[in-house]
Amino acid sequence: MTVPPAPQFGKPIAAQASPAVLEFLARRRSASAMALAAPGPSADQLADLLRLAARVPDHGKINPWRFIVIQDQAKTDFANWLNALAQGRPDTNKAVAALGKLRTPPLAVAVVSSPVQGNIPLWEQQLSAGAVCMALLMAATAMGFGANWITDWYAFDPSARAHLALSPDEQIAGFLYIGTATDAPQERVRPVMDALITAWKP
Ligand SMILES: Cc1cc2nc3c(=O)[nH]c(=O)nc-3n(C[C@H](O)[C@H](O)[C@H](O)COP(=O)(O)O)c2cc1C
Repeated sequence: MTVPPAPQFGKPIAAQASPAVLEFLARRRSASAMALAAPGPSADQLADLLRLAARVPDHGKINPWRFIVIQDQAKTDFANWLNALAQGRPDTNKAVAALGKLRTPPLAVAVVSSPVQGNIPLWEQQLSAGAVCMALLMAATAMGFGANWITDWYAFDPSARAHLALSPDEQIAGFLYIGTATDAPQERVRPVMDALITAWKP
């Protein structure tokens, strides 16, 4: 599956209707992290996925996010290190069990919200990091992989944050787990749209 290159800088990009994208969005569903097996994306596929994920709205064009790729032996080492850390938590069993979602898929990508000092509100920078997560989830799915957006305890644990070399102002927007889905997820409950929509009137 070939991913087109980015358009040339400054080139006009006409709006392009895409029934295929509408069909994709109408059916899109995360895979269970525990059902993600090898093969994961190749190095070239991963480069394409991250390029697509970084193509998101970003107030001020400041790229207030970055990626940490965790795979192969490094992912095993990270999970083992977290397993040791979990022994000191009050919810050890639950914390250890949650590590299955990290161990099982072939690839984890941590999307890090990495705020840039300046006049762009922090909230907007964090929203852009969320957009990166969603774009990566959709790009991986569109490439034929299963993917899941998880945070879990090790996204917030101070020691785990330090182990990932996060600075104090950075946050994990999500771990994106990517692999080949061995199981088709069932449709889950979806919102009743009427309950979420109001028409503003003066
Ligand atoms: C920021 C964020 C963090 C999440 N963290 C977890 C998590 O730690 N554990 C979990 O089981 N699901 C978590 N989820 C939910 C999963 O991503 C879930 O697969 C998803 O909501 C399924 O929806 P979909 O089928 O529409 O993609 C999280 C979702 C978001 C947006």
